[in-house]
Amino acid sequence: MTADLSIVVPTFNESANIEALIERVSIALEGLSWEMIVVDDDSPDGTADVAKAIARHDGRVRCIRRVNRRGLSGACVEGILSSSAPFVAVMDADLQHDETLLLPMYRSVRSGAADIAVGSRYSTGNAVATGFSSLRARISRCGTALAKRILGITCTDPMSGFFMLRRDIFDPLAPRLAESGYKILADILASSSRPLRIAEFGFEFRPRRAGQSKFDARIVLDFLGLLINKLSNGRIPVRFASFALVGASGVLVHLVALQIARLALTAPLSYHRDVFAASQAAATFVAMTTNFFVNNAVTYRDSRIQGAPHLLRALLAFHLVCALGAVANVSVATSLYDMTGRWLAPAIAGVVMGSIWNFTLSSFFVWKRS
Ligand code: GDD
Ligand code: MN
Repeated sequence: MTADLSIVVPTFNESANIEALIERVSIALEGLSWEMIVVDDDSPDGTADVAKAIARHDGRVRCIRRVNRRGLSGACVEGILSSSAPFVAVMDADLQHDETLLLPMYRSVRSGAADIAVGSRYSTGNAVATGFSSLRARISRCGTALAKRILGITCTDPMSGFFMLRRDIFDPLAPRLAESGYKILADILASSSRPLRIAEFGFEFRPRRAGQSKFDARIVLDFLGLLINKLSNGRIPVRFASFALVGASGVLVHLVALQIARLALTAPLSYHRDVFAASQAAATFVAMTTNFFVNNAVTYRDSRIQGAPHLLRALLAFHLVCALGAVANVSVATSLYDMTGRWLAPAIAGVVMGSIWNFTLSSFFVWKRS
């Protein structure tokens, strides 16, 4: 029997939650024919083993184990594309999402009343829902406001990880969705060529049952990258946006390091000019080094370099790439300056040129991505 609804559940270290989730979904969807696709990114806690053990005796469940890859959005996309029911849902494994909404959500998309049903954490009015810390709630509100204003999304909770839609709406959008990132719903809403009719279902965001949330500062940066990507109509890749944002934050690090170095070097070096040159060199070194580590943790976390010898080698390569990038930057800017006699546009062109250089070569030589 083929299923009417495919429920895609992305997992990372959720072994203690899978069984309870399936039980609850079975009860909530009594009478409906459904299937569940658990997409696990090779969790060290053996989530895939648990899911596959269940799949062996429950034909409604299957598990995709992905190796050497991480990413919530990518996992959801892969799970949806691997299934075939006419309706698909995405839901977290940690029981924070209210499974009793699945049936009303299904009815609304099934009847054609809505294109997409969203389990929304705000409609009930409890902004600081139980499963949210207050800082997390604040970050989430900012993200929502940005998404609404910049992407023109009209949905109370575009950051929700709980939604359901018709497959024929999702399929054509799939190639346009960002592989890395956490905000697949915002991405779907922003990528659709016509505005989707949304039905919202308010629910209380329950506390996670077992394990830990994977939400951290990186996800915020990812989201900013997604905004830039969508604003540029997909022309600026999310990864480049993230790289550029890290670079921009490096300017701040540079200025702080410069100031500290100047204070430290004023006594040993008597010439002001020498103090400045040495401080500028030290600050450049510090900023490049922090940029390397931040990029390693965020921009390239799916190919993260670990272990002291590998890190040292990669750090040296990154310094070399960026030094050449600086040469590219200065030469482009200077020749444009010679041609136009202006300074601002050539300076920006130099920075853009240098960033593209740094990004392309680092991707290839430092993080070894093709
Ligand atoms: N396959 C895979 N790969 N799954 C992942 C990954 C990953 O890299 N990271 C997280 N997950 C899974 C988790 O195991 C869980 O089932 C679900 O994705 C959500 O992850 P949580 O770590 O529990 O996220 P959260 O509760 O902090 O965040 C919730 O709110 C966000 C909005 O602020 C989720 O509903 C998110 O989907 C939502 O965007
Ligand atoms: Mn969660």
